[in-house]
Amino acid sequence: MKVYLDNGATTRVDPRVLKEMLPYFTTKFGNASSLHQFGQEAKEGLEKARKQIANSIGAKPSEIIFTSGGTESDNLAIHGVYKGHIITSTIEHPAILNVCKHLNHSIIPVNEYGFINLEKFEKAINSQSMATVMFANNEIGTIEPIKRLTEICTSKGILFHTDAVQAFGKIPIDVKKLNIDLMTLSSHKIYGPKGVGALYVKEGTSVKPMLRGGGHEKNIRSGTENIPGIVGFGKATELAVKDMKKDNVKLIKMRDKIIKNLLEVPNSMLNGHPRDRLSNNVNISFDFIEGEALILHLDTRGISASTGSACSSKKLEPSHVLTAIGLRPEQAHGSLRMTLGRFNTMNEIDYTLKIVPQIVEKLRKISPFR
Ligand SMILES: Cc1ncc(COP(=O)(O)O)c(C=O)c1O
Repeated sequence: MKVYLDNGATTRVDPRVLKEMLPYFTTKFGNASSLHQFGQEAKEGLEKARKQIANSIGAKPSEIIFTSGGTESDNLAIHGVYKGHIITSTIEHPAILNVCKHLNHSIIPVNEYGFINLEKFEKAINSQSMATVMFANNEIGTIEPIKRLTEICTSKGILFHTDAVQAFGKIPIDVKKLNIDLMTLSSHKIYGPKGVGALYVKEGTSVKPMLRGGGHEKNIRSGTENIPGIVGFGKATELAVKDMKKDNVKLIKMRDKIIKNLLEVPNSMLNGHPRDRLSNNVNISFDFIEGEALILHLDTRGISASTGSACSSKKLEPSHVLTAIGLRPEQAHGSLRMTLGRFNTMNEIDYTLKIVPQIVEKLRKISPFR
């Protein structure tokens, strides 16, 4: 049996998305800037996708800028509006932290569940500040108090950006109700293709471009648009919104079954909040074992999961998120992240729940940490 439990790293393209994309590789291959019919067909695809994405977050189509993905959107948001000081959290994705590192920054701690400290956040604000705090964390699934954060930023008159790459498609988001100024989205976490993303930019917000060229995307992001990718992203968004309730019911059922069962393994602990977490995220630490060994053993049994985030799992340092919520390095090293998706079945979960405790026990028997 092959069980893919790494949907937080990336997802399989939904067949309905692929079907929508295919004509844009073959017959409708035009450049959206061209005036002829081929160009106009491509432009229609581009603008339809812009509408689909805008509608899904309560924005106007003119507020959506297409990019090459979450990483570029994060970079663009920060470099685009930075005025001299940036405030962020300790548990952000490297696409935020590695940008902030080179700027004048304040990094705000989180508590044991991963919630940002609101008092420290507010105290860090000055007249030059902008803030960026993720909507939901990619490793432990914690959902941040975005409404409280935007209330603070609005009252202090500073801009607020959120990386919603993991939340998008799983949590209903209304950028107007939440008063978000800039928001990062990515296609490949919601059953769309890789290499496509968007930045929501609230009307009236001035964003300096990082890429200059032909002036595409309102001069904010030059470069011929990736039309097949963007069309796929639009369709994936439409499906994510349409199926969100149904998908979440199924995901939560699977998630909670895994958590309940794996916490019965002695010396195990849930990372993140038991309720305020993404519908598809499980993150559990097992004492006395190495997460890397667990992942490799699971792989031999057909189960694909991760330890820490996919991007950092090649490094040997413990995850910065798990250490930020107070785990000792050895607990952080013994973590298992399973991120569920639309295509998983309860059958697969039952199989996984049979295998994981067996491997944990086997690894503990040979563990030097014990
Ligand atoms: C929270 C978060 N932000 C940003 C990214 C980067 O997105 P992309 O892979 O589209 O560049 C990821 C992907 O792992 C993510 O989980």
